[in-house]
Amino acid sequence: MERALQVLVGMDKLARNNPEKVIDLLSERLTFERAGVKLYDAIIAKLVTSNEPEVHRTLRAMHEHRNHEKEHEEWLEQQIRALGGDAHTETDLARLATTESMGIEAVVLDGDNDPVHLFHALLAAELADNAGWDLLVALADEAGDRAAKKEFKKRLHEEEEHLIFVRRALASLAKADVLGEELEMPVRP
Ligand SMILES: [Fe+2]
Ligand SMILES: [Fe+2]
Repeated sequence: MERALQVLVGMDKLARNNPEKVIDLLSERLTFERAGVKLYDAIIAKLVTSNEPEVHRTLRAMHEHRNHEKEHEEWLEQQIRALGGDAHTETDLARLATTESMGIEAVVLDGDNDPVHLFHALLAAELADNAGWDLLVALADEAGDRAAKKEFKKRLHEEEEHLIFVRRALASLAKADVLGEELEMPVRP
């Protein structure tokens, strides 16, 4: 029921001028979020095999963040359909997102199991993820589309949590590697 309501929120003001471009932007987000779910799944599968117990402490938050990305993916699919778009058409910006993600996927989806590399790559993804939602919030704000802005902002807040967490995880690993400190991985953002 709640999902149907979300669709009805619409993006009337945001999409009034150029719905195609709004669909293009949402398709970029969708492509990114789909890739994000894949990244989290692959990283979680690798972290599970780590013999460093501190690394395992991150798993709960990592699962939670993975589920946020999945919700973002599904929500975006609904919004694109509600605007008359096709959630499986590769738009210009969706193609761009795919190309941009290639380096990150090459690190995470290949045989690299080093947590430093995995969190380093994830940090690059989350920085772009945050910027993507931030842009949507700014556009909805400019268009005076309060309903769309509220929905974008909700997801931006989740992305901010992801970013804080990945930053802290990478900092912990770097402090251990570079400064010789005892490894203490974050549990929550
Ligand atoms: Fe995301
Ligand atoms: Fe994220």
